[in-house]
Amino acid sequence: MPRCRSPSWHARIAPILHTADARDVHSYARPLEARVHHVALDLAVDFASRRIGGTATLDIERRPDAKQIVLDSKGLEIESITDAEGEPLQWQVGAAHEHFGSPLAIALRPDTKRIAIRYKSAPEAGALQWLTPAQTAGKQRPYLFSQGQAIENRTWIPTQDSPGIRQSWEAVIRVPAGLTAVMSAPRSAEPITQGGESVFSFKMPHSVASYMIAIGVGDLAFQPLGPRSGVWTEPSMLKAAAAELGDTEKMIDSAEALFGPYLWGRFDMLVLPPSFPFGGMENPTLTFLTPTFIAGDRSLVSLVAHELAHSWSGNLSTNATWADFWLNEGTTTYATYRIMEAIYGKERAAQQYALGFASLMKEIDSIGGMNHPDTRLHLDLEGRNPDEGLTEIAYEKGAAFLRTIESIVGRERFDAWLKGWFNRHRFEPVTSAIFLADIRDHLVDGDKELERKLMLDDWVYKPGIPSNVVRPDPKAFAQVDAAVQSFVAGNPANAAAWNGWTTDERLRFLNNLPRKLPKPRLEQLNAALKLNETRNNEVLYAWLDLAVANRFDPAVSALERFLTTQGRRKFVRPLIEALAKDQQWGRPIAQRVYRQARASYHPITQRDLDRLGLI
Ligand code: BES
Ligand code: ZN
Repeated sequence: MPRCRSPSWHARIAPILHTADARDVHSYARPLEARVHHVALDLAVDFASRRIGGTATLDIERRPDAKQIVLDSKGLEIESITDAEGEPLQWQVGAAHEHFGSPLAIALRPDTKRIAIRYKSAPEAGALQWLTPAQTAGKQRPYLFSQGQAIENRTWIPTQDSPGIRQSWEAVIRVPAGLTAVMSAPRSAEPITQGGESVFSFKMPHSVASYMIAIGVGDLAFQPLGPRSGVWTEPSMLKAAAAELGDTEKMIDSAEALFGPYLWGRFDMLVLPPSFPFGGMENPTLTFLTPTFIAGDRSLVSLVAHELAHSWSGNLSTNATWADFWLNEGTTTYATYRIMEAIYGKERAAQQYALGFASLMKEIDSIGGMNHPDTRLHLDLEGRNPDEGLTEIAYEKGAAFLRTIESIVGRERFDAWLKGWFNRHRFEPVTSAIFLADIRDHLVDGDKELERKLMLDDWVYKPGIPSNVVRPDPKAFAQVDAAVQSFVAGNPANAAAWNGWTTDERLRFLNNLPRKLPKPRLEQLNAALKLNETRNNEVLYAWLDLAVANRFDPAVSALERFLTTQGRRKFVRPLIEALAKDQQWGRPIAQRVYRQARASYHPITQRDLDRLGLI
């Protein structure tokens, strides 16, 4: 029998992976037969060919009788696979599925515990975006970044790409001299530059899900923000980024008070070029952020609180499969409201909860109403891309669920439970069933009355919103809602009031205006509130959404500028989709914009928009 390298895996993780809930329909891996527990990468980044290539050395643990290990791979060009002694191992790449890629099955000899794969990523790897110098702020050097979640990392790392299979990892990364490589792990050595190449080394001591391995390469500079936080970005962006992130240390302190110690060491951030397809990505020790959150007044920093909160919900306790994505995002969204409340006060947090709840209601409508199965928290994503679970259901229904439990059991008891939840499941995969069992063991504790009040199974397994939901305070935006009523009654928009409002209040106002407005009213709105010129990207998005719904020509140049200068999927996808649907007025604009912007969008954003048949 081989030595048991990790008794805790056998005691804790294997029983979880045995449950039906933890079967991952988006990975070919069979971790109970053979699993990867450590990944060592030695990779060179080649901008000319748009490939990352080198060696991935995998340490594996396997049942003594396991004949093979199955990895995930998508588009990888494999040169050779050997064991630790350099002896070739037999391998085979199975049929490719358009979303999931191919199984990479490697034959194991009885004593094989380490395998070395020589390979290259494909130029069209879905996790990687390669930017030309012209697509960067500095315009001088190229740029590369990765986005692994949910199932993209298999396009550049041959390993088991399932969130339930945690792996420690290390990497040696070779880049053209003068560029800086950063990753989602601490540096393990000082960088070395020689012969036109700079070499960076990283080591993540904790076991993480494979989607949490991330890289950024470019002309990068660093500015500390506090004892354990700092920001990386292109030099010309550094000052504005650091100013916007000035509350980061406070956020870490608040989060620790709420959720328990921060176990990752540093919390640094990388502010990316504007094509970054998400608002943020919680890569451990190095959160990735869109530059579109920089508004100059810290009004959009709940994004930072959100990614920070994932250091507990998501990165410590991780959804075992994408069916339980709500455990990552719903818990994080709830946690974000709590961090925002601790730092900026109850009023701002209550407003954000109200904005979130309104977007949940809108999402339920667009999914197909309260009875649609995709409005369940625990999703059935078999055969579908996990991206389809990326809706406000996971985020805001998940958050509303936790808020509801909190209000029923009281904040003090709930907070003790939440801290305990993260601690009991740190560095482990979790499922909906584990979550419910944990609540029953630690909160309900046999109290039948409480069990009935909580409606736990309805929340997780039934569509729609259970009747015990805690709705947002209807007075959270009393003033703004009155202004909406006044506008609806025919009065002009009031610039003085608008100028006194916060960003959240402005968003509430724009989102609650009637969706159809006559042109003169839009003209007055635009002139009074200077909407086309706003530098706040969330406000601009809310305005452009309304403008498109009304075929408002005077907003088209602002719209084109917005769609061609940033690629955040949450902004570009709904706008371009709405334009494309409007055959007469919108479609020609969508075609013009998409032809111009496509090359600057991330592969996953391109994949969404290519379906519209615009080019
Ligand atoms: N982890 C997500 C981003 C993600 C989810 C990427 C699923 C790929 C697949 C991240 O934490 C996130 O939720 N980002 C949000 C911002 C947040 C403030 C709601 C985003 O990008 O909009
Ligand atoms: Zn998130």
